[in-house]
Amino acid sequence: MTKNKITKKIVCGNWKMNPRSLKEAEKLFNDTAKHISDIKKTEIVACPPFLYLEKLKKLSKKIILGAQDDFPGDVGAFTGEVSAEMLYNLGVRYVILGHSERRTLGESNLDINKKIKSSLAMGLKPILCVGERERNDNHDYFNLIKMQLEEALEGVSKTSAAKIIIAYEPIWAISSTKNRKDATPKDSSEMTIFIRRVLFDKFGPDAGRIRILYGGSANPRDAEDFLKDGGVDGLLVGRASLDAKKFSQIVKICEALNK
Ligand code: PGA
Repeated sequence: MTKNKITKKIVCGNWKMNPRSLKEAEKLFNDTAKHISDIKKTEIVACPPFLYLEKLKKLSKKIILGAQDDFPGDVGAFTGEVSAEMLYNLGVRYVILGHSERRTLGESNLDINKKIKSSLAMGLKPILCVGERERNDNHDYFNLIKMQLEEALEGVSKTSAAKIIIAYEPIWAISSTKNRKDATPKDSSEMTIFIRRVLFDKFGPDAGRIRILYGGSANPRDAEDFLKDGGVDGLLVGRASLDAKKFSQIVKICEALNK
């Protein structure tokens, strides 16, 4: 494989703290799997809450499982935490790290950096979320994204680059944000050009293998525009991933655009 070849496009569902019961989680997962059974070229990932992972693992091979967080380090006295190794041993292959909802709870770039390194060491592929809370006319938010990337990826080797995914999620466009606004494919494309430059400065040509996703109220209506004009290799989908039909429509749109 050449250094700058992107592998498959990817659509990843972030279920957040949903749904209420294992029964509902199984239904959502099974329904999604049914709708996407003929998908071949798109990687499909679902990130449910930890406690549903084991059961869902047995229901579909087509949907790869991801976690929404993990904890750096080995087994030990870390009450309430789940390690990257435990997740890997369960069959999980991706982990969302640095999501804005976790940063709001106090997670720092340094915390995220530790999680990224231990996840990579255990075989999990990190989906590193970056994004600004708001935009202003002097474009400070580019510096913020640069800092989020540089600090979170500090010490990560070039050989790991291909295993990393970056999700650009402007917080002001996420469905859970009060008075949210729609981001446009142009907003995404400007930022992904910038992100690719930061990644190139760090990883050199290996940066070409890092996939970048857009996240922020992605839905079947705008998925095609973001995938075509947003400069991205896929989507990180929150609310719409809780609806099997909507999520699979997004996957199918991505599949149709996959060459
Ligand atoms: P949303 O969530 O699609 O509901 O905006 C995206 C995310 O927060 O990962």
